[in-house]
This record gives sequence, C-alpha cells and structure tokens, in this order.
Amino acid sequence: MKSTHGLVAILILAGACSLFAQPTTLVQNDWEDGTLQGWIPRGGGVVLANSTEVAHGGTHSLKTTGRTAGFNGPSLNLVGLINGATYQVTASVRLVTGTPATQLKITVQRTVNGTNNFDSVAQSAATGVTDSAWTTLTGLYSYTGTDPSALLLYVESASTTASYYVDDFSIVLVGNPPGPPPNTNGLFSGFESGTREGWTPRIGTEVVNPSSADAHSGTFSLLTTGRTAAFQGPAIDVTNIMFNGSRYVISVWAKLAPGEASSQLRVSLQRNIGSTTTFHTAVGNTTVTSGAWVRLSATYDFAFVNTSVTMYVESNSGTASFYIDDVSITFVPPPTVETNLASLGQVLSPYVFVGAAVNATTISGVHGDLLSKHFNSITSENDMKWDATEASEGTFTFANADAQVSFAKAHGMRVRGHTLVWHNQIPAWVFTDPNTGTTMTPTPQNKTLLLQRLRNHIQGLLTHFGSDVYAWDVVNEAIDPSQSDCLRRSTWYTITGKDFIDTAFQTARQFAPNAKLFYNDFSTTDTGKRQCIFNLVADLKSRGIPIDAVGHQMHINLNYPGVQPVLDTVNQLATLGIDQQFTEFDISVGTSFTAYSDIPASVLAQQGYEYRDYLNAARLLQGKLSSVTFWGMADDHTWLTSGTVVDAPLPFDTSLHAKLAYWGIVDQSQLPGIALTGTLGTKAGPQNARVWTLTFSNAGTGAAYGAQLSGFTLTQTSGAACTPVVSAALPVALGDIAANGSASANITIDFTGCPALARFSLSAPYSSSNGWNAGAILRNNEFR
Ligand code: XIL
Repeated sequence: MKSTHGLVAILILAGACSLFAQPTTLVQNDWEDGTLQGWIPRGGGVVLANSTEVAHGGTHSLKTTGRTAGFNGPSLNLVGLINGATYQVTASVRLVTGTPATQLKITVQRTVNGTNNFDSVAQSAATGVTDSAWTTLTGLYSYTGTDPSALLLYVESASTTASYYVDDFSIVLVGNPPGPPPNTNGLFSGFESGTREGWTPRIGTEVVNPSSADAHSGTFSLLTTGRTAAFQGPAIDVTNIMFNGSRYVISVWAKLAPGEASSQLRVSLQRNIGSTTTFHTAVGNTTVTSGAWVRLSATYDFAFVNTSVTMYVESNSGTASFYIDDVSITFVPPPTVETNLASLGQVLSPYVFVGAAVNATTISGVHGDLLSKHFNSITSENDMKWDATEASEGTFTFANADAQVSFAKAHGMRVRGHTLVWHNQIPAWVFTDPNTGTTMTPTPQNKTLLLQRLRNHIQGLLTHFGSDVYAWDVVNEAIDPSQSDCLRRSTWYTITGKDFIDTAFQTARQFAPNAKLFYNDFSTTDTGKRQCIFNLVADLKSRGIPIDAVGHQMHINLNYPGVQPVLDTVNQLATLGIDQQFTEFDISVGTSFTAYSDIPASVLAQQGYEYRDYLNAARLLQGKLSSVTFWGMADDHTWLTSGTVVDAPLPFDTSLHAKLAYWGIVDQSQLPGIALTGTLGTKAGPQNARVWTLTFSNAGTGAAYGAQLSGFTLTQTSGAACTPVVSAALPVALGDIAANGSASANITIDFTGCPALARFSLSAPYSSSNGWNAGAILRNNEFR
C-alpha cells in the first residue's frame, strides 16, 4: 500500500512551496506488491484477490468476485484520509472474461449523524465496461458540511453479479477547501516598466509585447498581434492572486489596434483542476474599437477549486490585434457587520420607524445581522407580490414571505405588506378571460370576474398574514398625472375603471380591520402627481372608502427632487388627516439608470449630504411621517444594480460597511468638507479697483468637493448712496479643497463715487458637494 495521509502531504507542501493547492497524490494502488493494499470487501459473499490474470499497468490488479448485489464490490476506508478539499479519483476497470458488458461506478458512502449519503464520484457509460479492454473512470469528489463518521469508497456495478478487476486507482488532492485567501494583494499591470509584467501569449503563436504606440495611462500598454483564433490573447497566471471563495473586481482597459474593425472582447478564466480544464467568463463580451479605450469590468465571485488558474483576454470572434492597459484585480473584503456603529433604527426612533426591503437571502448570515441591528421594520421586496403569492389562481405560496415575517417577529420588527394591487409582477391568468383564453376586453362580466379575483387575492393574503403585517400597500402606482382623470391606463383601469381601487381598499379593511391601508407611488413630490394623489385620497375619504396613509416610494437621485418638494408634499397631504411614510427610499448616484464604473468619492460625499438633508426632512415632518423604509440595506443588493449598470443608492456599501450616506443620517461631522468656512480677508487696491480677498478653509476630515463662491452681494448700510460695481464671474470655482487645505477668491469692486463714510453689508454664499454643503460669509457695516 502506497497511500500517504492527506494532512501530512498538505503540510509538506505548504512548507516546501506555496499555500495554494498543488496536485498531491494521496492514494495510489497498483497492486504490484501482491497484497490487497488496504481494500476490503463490501457485501457478504464478496471475495477480493490480488490477481495476475490481467493488469492495466504492470502485472497485477485487484479482482472482485462473489457479488450478489449492485452495491457489492471492493471498498476503501477514507476516514482520516480526505476532508472538505477537492480530489480527483481515478480507477481503471475491466470485467472478468465471460461477464456481459455493464456499467461500473465509483461511489462514496458518507455517514453523517447516523444518516448515509451516497455520493456519486465517477461512472462509465451504461454498458461501457467490457471484458475485452480497460476503461478508465475519473471524477472530482468533495463534500461540505458536517464531518462524516464513516466514509467508504467502493466500486459497484449496475449488474448485481458482475466480476471485475480494478487497477491503477488513485486519489489526488487537487484543490483546498475555500477559506480565507492566503493573500489579498490582487494584481495591477500598467506596463510602465516597459515589460510584459508576467503576461504571456495564451497559446503561443500570438505575439504579446509592451508598446508605447498607445496607452490608457502613462506611456506603455500591452499589444497583442498575430492572433489566428478568437481564443488567442494575452494571458496571466492568477493562481496565487484569485482564491476560491473570494470576490474580486476585475478591470481591463482595452483598445483595438489602428485600422481594426469594431470587435467584442471579453475577459476569461481557464481553471485547471486535476486533469480537468474548465473555462469561465469573468467580464462578458464588450464592444471595443480602435477609436477609444474601453473598460471591461465586473465584480466576480471566484468560486472554483483549482490547481491553477489563468486569466486572459480573447475576442468573441475574429482575430483583431488589440492593446490592454491598467489591468487590475482588486480583492473585495467579505461582508462584515461593523459592531461599533449606532443603530439607524435607534438614532431615528424619536421620529420614524426604520425599515429595509428584504429577500430570501438577506434575512440570514451577516445580512440578517445588519438587518436586525439597524432596522426595526421590513418590507418583502418581491415575495408578497401577486406573482410570488398566487402564481396560479387559488394556489397561494407564502414560504419566502413567511420566513421574512418569522425573522421580523423573532427580532421585534414590524412588517409592511407590499403590494396587493399593481400593474407589474402580476401573473397573466388574472387578466385572462376564461371564455376566450386571451386578455380580457372591457365587458360587464369581465369586470365582475376581475374584481372577484382581486377580492379573492386580497382575502387570501390578509387572512394568511393576519395581524403579523401592520401596514399594506393596498394600491401601488395607479396614478398617471398625464391623464385628465389622473388614472394610469393599466389593465385594471381598462376593465374596471377606478372600481378596482375602491374594491381593493374595502376588501383590505374587511380582512385586515386593524391594518394601516396605503396608497403607494413614486415621484409623489412632482406637483402634478402630488395633486392627483391629493384628489384621489380626498375622493376616497369623501365616499367612505377606507384609506389611512400615503406611501412615498422616494426612489430619488442626486439631482431629484430636492428637499423642499418633499416637505411641501408631506405637509400638503397631511391636511387630509392621513399618515405618510417613505416606503422605498434610495438615492441613485446615476440618473435614468446610468451609472459610473467607478463611483467618484465626490459623488458618495454628495450622497452623504443628501442623506443628511432628506432624513432631516423626515425628522422635521415628525407626527406626519411615521416610517422610512430603505429599498434594501446595502449596495451589494439593490434593484438599481443590474447587468453592467452599477449603482450605490443605500446607506451601507457592498461590504456592508457604513457609507457617508449612513454618516449623513447619524453624525454629519463625518461628512467630507463639513467644516468648510469662509472669511473676508484683506482688502487692497485703489478705490476704482478694490480687491477683496475671500478665504475658504477646510478644517475637517475629507475634501470639500467642487467648492465654489456662489454669490457676492453688497448692500449699503450708511453714507450717501452710491453704486459699487462688482466685477466677478459668479460662481467662482474653488475646486476640491483638501482636508486642512484652503482656497481664495479675489473680487474686484469699483467704489468710484462712494464717499469715505460709505459702509456695506456683505453676503457671500459658498458651497461644496454641488451646493449640498452650504455656508455664507456675512459681514455687516463693512468699510469699502
Ligand atoms: C422592484 C424590486 O426591487 C425588483 O427586485 C423587482 O424585479 C421589480 O420590482 N416600485 C415598487 C417596487 O413598488 O415593488 C419595485 O421593486 C421598485 C419600484
């Protein structure tokens, strides 16, 4: 027996070379020593013998006879030999002469807490093994979870009686289990060394060389020419850079060589494990031209056990020559909850409940910890919608929603229900006319049927959730201010007019008499829409239709809508005697679903100020606004990030750490540039060209981004009237003022005609972060 024990092998390996897995042979059985090499019979009558009748290599093999069941066969105890790593198992098998062709399999019986699991490792084709030739079976094996108490590998057959030989059996450790990465250095290749910086031709016939003919930054890039296949390109070994179980941001700048027609490039990975190779796309096909540098970028969860990995750039088709530059692989720390932070829910508890939209995955693990720490209310992001709860008529599904409600109850949180009636995420059957099998047309019968389906749906949900859900978005997004009657032309409207709204609220009250019933919508602060909502609520109330509250989704962005419209809207609707909430709050850093590939620090700073101001508005609206629910918790999961569009609208980042948005709510002194102050400094020059110097100092942490002097107004306070002429191109840009830095603006004033005793007051407003961090230099009785 020539088996070595895994642990010893790994330790030797770690000492001798590097921390990542190299193929290590743990078991190798060739039976050349005439023994059974540790193999034992599995099953009563099974007989094992060392045989010289046939051999795959050498002159000996292991012969199995006497089988009476498919699961009988030769077996090897693996306890203590393997753990949660990944192994390649290989065996050559052949039937004893005269045995009809059959299937052979390698299986592992894994016993955990008294329960047997049968893990399939490798198998031949259905009748793939014969008595005339050797067949080699090979497969990868790994297991996760609790350590097994018994672990028995065996070679079995579909035939219950077949006799067979096994030879050249091996177990090779090919990959360590996922764990903390040995390093988090990542990679950067800027090629400014004028060398290939570890990059090579992937196949060998393409030519990969540093080039100063073009560069994304600096002087050099890496040029690949002479490609004869789409899969040829520059490659780099990332075995010791990307590790199983870690997340990376991959970024490659690319440009085609002059004269090449537009082409699609992508970033791929070649994963080698044992004798197996697999290919994976890390950054999808991206159109690249010879006219401009284009970034190929993605966040990539690297989840491959491997013995080696190569990253390379290839084309979707064609063989264009291309440059790459400024290649980076950046390790993204795994999410953790910062335990020393104040809870958002507690900070805002004098004013509002603080909620988050959740899904099946964000109620457990670190996300669950973040949720219970900072929030005291939840909304199911999708799992209480019609398509999730009643995908086919009368059959209700609540598994995901129930898990979320249970989480909320276990942590003393409130649950908002979202949503009973909407034109989206609604299954087709709801609007299907049973007589035609197609979408309903407006007839009295269809109206009756649709309203009945609506009642049934609401009854089904509300009786299920009962008092566990304290508030319901009964009707969502039914208003369209461009219509004269303010009602969106949805199928609900087409078939029922506005009756679906009445029916929904009445049915909701009937089956959840204590729930707070909401009308919920987006862009509620637009004047037209606001008035439509006002009219709708007033109308419902005047007709005795039960409605308790209005939900403002508040899907807003850096430029929209501004704080004042929010205050005005809530104040106006409050006159109707209803409650209000922000139900889906997020601040997109893009507009119209476009965003940055790297979100600039200045943008996140501005977002921090906006979070401060909008949440201060919520505080000011105390008594009129009862809850603020964010549409998610952290930027690792937001509806605004999809595909290549990456947004960052929430208070926590992709590692679940507090963003400036969080600090804007909790402690504004943390916001960059918050300590920016302005002073009136020297005055110099003649009466007709007096120069007043205004100095701006940033004493705080972080830069004051995009600082500017935005006004300069002199108002005469004494002396005979005169008219000083200020010549300044306002606003005066001051740029980014670094922490502990300062900047000045000189304003020239012509005081010709002003008497010696003339005095003026000065108002000079200034700001940073696009006006969100604002101050003013105010001086009274200023001598000219
Ligand atoms: C969004 C969810 O966040 C997405 O996961 C889903 O794919 C589409 O719906 N207004 C609403 C929410 O009322 O239900 C929407 O939620 C976002 C806009």
